Amino acid sequence: MVLEEMKVSLIGAGVMAEVIALGLVRSKLVSSEDIMVSHYREDRLVQFRESVPVRTTTSNVEAYRHGDVAIICVRPQAMNGVLKELRGEVESRLLVTIAAGLPISLYEAQIGGSTPFVRAMPTFFGRIKAGTTGLTLNSAATAQHLAIASRIFGTISENVIVLPEDEIDAFTTFGSTTTATVYLLLDALITAGSLVGLRHQASHSRAIEQVIAAARNVEATDKLPSQLLDELCTPGGVTVEGVKVFEERAMRGALIDGVMAATNRARELREAARQLG
Ligand SMILES: NC(=O)c1ccc[n+]([C@@H]2O[C@H](COP(=O)([O-])OP(=O)(O)OC[C@H]3O[C@@H](n4cnc5c(N)ncnc54)[C@H](OP(=O)(O)O)[C@@H]3O)[C@@H](O)[C@H]2O)c1
Repeated sequence: MVLEEMKVSLIGAGVMAEVIALGLVRSKLVSSEDIMVSHYREDRLVQFRESVPVRTTTSNVEAYRHGDVAIICVRPQAMNGVLKELRGEVESRLLVTIAAGLPISLYEAQIGGSTPFVRAMPTFFGRIKAGTTGLTLNSAATAQHLAIASRIFGTISENVIVLPEDEIDAFTTFGSTTTATVYLLLDALITAGSLVGLRHQASHSRAIEQVIAAARNVEATDKLPSQLLDELCTPGGVTVEGVKVFEERAMRGALIDGVMAATNRARELREAARQLG
């Protein structure tokens, strides 16, 4: 099977379906006429075609039949409904899901275990082709299926890795909470910059520059972040006064608790989905 000659179906025309369709078309891996996207509302499909001029349908089954590979892009809460629709159709073609939190066993309970199946956790940064997509395969998926999924998600990520299924939830929630932390951090720092006298634009660009440079510095050395923090804080100097306040406000503990709360929520959602199934 040559991916350049393959047709791809995207079931659910949301944010991620658009990112994936754009990635496939921009990279020229799949042409826009070989992609079919489904959504139950035509107005959403009209909007989607304005962004990426793919083929569209209001029938999930029609979209599924179109593709050599089908990627289900609905939210976890809508997954059982979609699987019930597809149940009579699914056979040997590769089926991919990007839904967070739902285990492969939940899909196999609906569609059986003989369909090659890939659970993918794409990066949030698909539009800029950054970050890592994690993939987990069922036992029916072969090396060729892995190669296909890797090329598809390679159009929207810098890296694609294979993970054991018991790591993919932690991979997901760690990724999303890390991203959320950086956004919160930047938002607060930009305000702080304005309060200490920088113009808004200067505060904005300096905050971004410092966050990127600090992360690159950690990446480039063998030192732990705590060692670099130590080097940054001259005893009796100014930075250490700020760090003292961060410690008093338990910033480190809040970050750890946030990641753990998100992971616990993922477990709760998985359990709820299992009971719905
Ligand atoms: N956003 C991210 O960064 C990210 C990253 C990795 C993985 N994911 C996963 O990707 C999936 C999609 O996320 P998203 O952010 O793209 O969500 P989204 O924008 O809400 O997209 C889901 C789309 O599916 C549509 N839909 C709902 N029920 C449907 C059905 N029965 N048939 C066809 N379409 C249906 C929704 O329509 P309505 O809204 O009109 O109901 C919506 O357009 C989720 O499972 C999420 O866990 C997201």
